[in-house]
Amino acid sequence: MTVTIIVGGFWGDEGKGKIISYIAYSENPAIIARSGVGTNAGHTVVFEGKKYGLRMIPSGFTSKKSRLLIGAGVLVDPDIFLKEIEETGCKDRIAIDYQAGVIESQHKEIDQKDKHFSKKIGSTGTGCGPANQDRAKRTLRLAKEFPQLEPYLTDVSTEINEAIEAGKNVVLEGTQGTMLSLFHGTYPFVTSKDVSAPQICSDVGIGPTKVDEVIIVFKAFMTRVGEGPMPGTLSEEEMEKRGWVEHGTVTGRARRSAPIDFDVARKAVRLNGATQIALTKLDIIFPEVAGAKSADKLSKESLEFISEIEKETGVPVTFVGTGPEAEALIDLREEKL
Ligand code: GTP
Ligand code: IMP
Ligand code: MG
Repeated sequence: MTVTIIVGGFWGDEGKGKIISYIAYSENPAIIARSGVGTNAGHTVVFEGKKYGLRMIPSGFTSKKSRLLIGAGVLVDPDIFLKEIEETGCKDRIAIDYQAGVIESQHKEIDQKDKHFSKKIGSTGTGCGPANQDRAKRTLRLAKEFPQLEPYLTDVSTEINEAIEAGKNVVLEGTQGTMLSLFHGTYPFVTSKDVSAPQICSDVGIGPTKVDEVIIVFKAFMTRVGEGPMPGTLSEEEMEKRGWVEHGTVTGRARRSAPIDFDVARKAVRLNGATQIALTKLDIIFPEVAGAKSADKLSKESLEFISEIEKETGVPVTFVGTGPEAEALIDLREEKL
């Protein structure tokens, strides 16, 4: 029995969706539960030849045998939730907590029109910040008040705790990244709540002693979208030259990029109590490893890069991403480097 958290180590968009989709289809855990802020997140999953940009549904939908849950701490946008259920075909195995907060049209309007949210912070405009503002004020309406969500309601905390007590495997997926945490990130250029591993437990309603593994996802270079600082940010020209150009899954905005800063990585490891590292986009830095699925395909240079990350953080790299598809991955838990 294992309870595993998957958390972003930088400013979001580290490739959590891809790592979760791999773990889900290869291990079929009993439950995969989504935590985090809400529809501001966009997890990209490329699976069986199709690309998904998931803002509500857990990326673990790739396992047909897993129960998919959305915790009480997550903000739900009913239209997006229902649309993604259709896209992913997971109607019969998904549920939301009764007490999840709901994003309504006024939240989106404020997020898009208010200068503080849209310009100063560079929010995603998805209504998450204003909805969490209402939650703190205790005026936000909850999922249990919306008839269209009624068929999907459950007590997520009870379901997960009962699965843990029955010795089943549970995966908790984080969204955003540690440096966007309201408490520990680059305030005020952060999201509207904490997003680190302790908050992931709270979002779905389990105690910290239940967690066995915390997999922190680091991309082979750092990226950031929206306003706020990132150490070592490259010029646009340099980003182009290195091929580190990305665009947001939710907003389409260009992401800024920088080489990995080990002070940031070590801080993220500590804040999350990380036990393993999943390193994505190794193929962008080392094109010779593109599509590799076993450690013997890794080049000397890429192995040195992995060793440096392990040495600097004190945490083993257990997964390496070598392409956008769920299966373009090296699972180092079984293969010793
Ligand atoms: P948030 O929850 O919004 O923080 O997103 P996320 O962590 O799930 O990441 P997102 O999907 O927004 O961005 C990651 C991007 O990298 C996507 O375009 C993925 O398809 C891509 N990607 C992930 N892993 C790899 C990899 O190993 N190689 C390559 N080439 N692309 C990858
Ligand atoms: P908000 O969460 O929409 O209020 O946006 C606050 C800040 O967090 C902005 O800089 C966003 O770009 C950033 N942000 C929020 N969610 C994500 C995410 O999932 N990936 C990357 N950046 C995000
Ligand atoms: Mg994203």
